[in-house]
Amino acid sequence: MKDAPYFVEKVLWVKHWTDRLFSFAITRPASFRFRSGEFVMIGLPPREELGGKKPILRAYSIGSPSFAEELEFFSIKVPDGPLTSRLQQIQEGDEILLGKKPTGTLVLDAVRPGKRLFLFGTGTGLAPWLSVARDPDAYSRFERVIVAHGVREVKELAYRDLFTHEIFDDPLVGDEARAQLTYYPTVTREPFERQGRFTDLIESGKLFSDLGLEGDKFDPEHDRAMLCGSMAMIKDTAALLEAHGLKEGSNAEPGDFVIERAFVG
Ligand code: A2P
Repeated sequence: MKDAPYFVEKVLWVKHWTDRLFSFAITRPASFRFRSGEFVMIGLPPREELGGKKPILRAYSIGSPSFAEELEFFSIKVPDGPLTSRLQQIQEGDEILLGKKPTGTLVLDAVRPGKRLFLFGTGTGLAPWLSVARDPDAYSRFERVIVAHGVREVKELAYRDLFTHEIFDDPLVGDEARAQLTYYPTVTREPFERQGRFTDLIESGKLFSDLGLEGDKFDPEHDRAMLCGSMAMIKDTAALLEAHGLKEGSNAEPGDFVIERAFVG
C-alpha cells in the first residue's frame, strides 16, 4: 500500500497575536527531519459537511529549529482564505496534516561562510528566522546574527518578547544570542522607535549606522543575508544586495544571500 503523503499530527498550543496573525505548534513525528529555515506543507483534513473531499494544504516555514520536539508555525489569518479561515480556529488537540517533504533555501548551508548574517523578514516572513536564530549553528558560523522584522503596525511585531529577552534564557543558544544576536524591528505605518522599509534603511545607510557598522554598504566579503516576505520586498531588497556586490545562492550553489517568498498571504 502506498504511504499517505502526510502525517496527521495534533495541535499543542495556539497563540493569537492580532486579528490578522497567530502562531501554533503541533506534535513532531519521530521520522520527520528538516533543516532549520525550511518550509513544509501544512493542512487540515477535509470536512465532508463543508463539501470537502481533498485536504487544502499550503506551504509554511517551520519556526522551530531542526532539533525541536514540537513544530511551530507563524501564520496570517485571511478571512476568506481557503485554509487560514479555518486554520485560525484550530484549538489544542485538533488534527493537522503535515507534509513529508520539508525543503527550502533559507538554510545556513545555502550561504557561504561570512561574519555577519542578516535575516530580513516582513510580516510572517519572520517565521524562518524563528528557526535559524534558535539554532546554535547560526552562532558558530557567524560572529553576528541580525534578525530584522519589518511590519506596518507596532502590534504586528510578533515575537518581540522572544527576541528582546526570552531567547537569552534559552538553554542552547542563550549565551550566544546575548553576545551575537541583534533584533532590528522597523514599523512603516505608525510611529515607532525605528521607522521605514528595509530598502530605505539600507539606501540611506541608517541600517549600518544603527548597527554600529563601518561604511554604508553591505560588504560582499563578510556579509550574508536571507530574505523572506512579499515578492515586492524580496525583489527590491535583492536588487540592493546585488548592487552592493552580493550574489544570490541556492542549495546547489551556496552564495551571499538567499530568498524565499513568505507563503500564505
Ligand atoms: P509599507 O507599509 O511601506 O508598504 P506587507 O504586509 O504589505 O507585506 O508589508 C509588510 C512590511 O513590508 C511593511 O512594513 C511594508 O512597508 C514593507 N514592504 C512592502 N513592500 C516592500 C518593498 N517593496 N520593499 C521593502 N519593504 C516593503
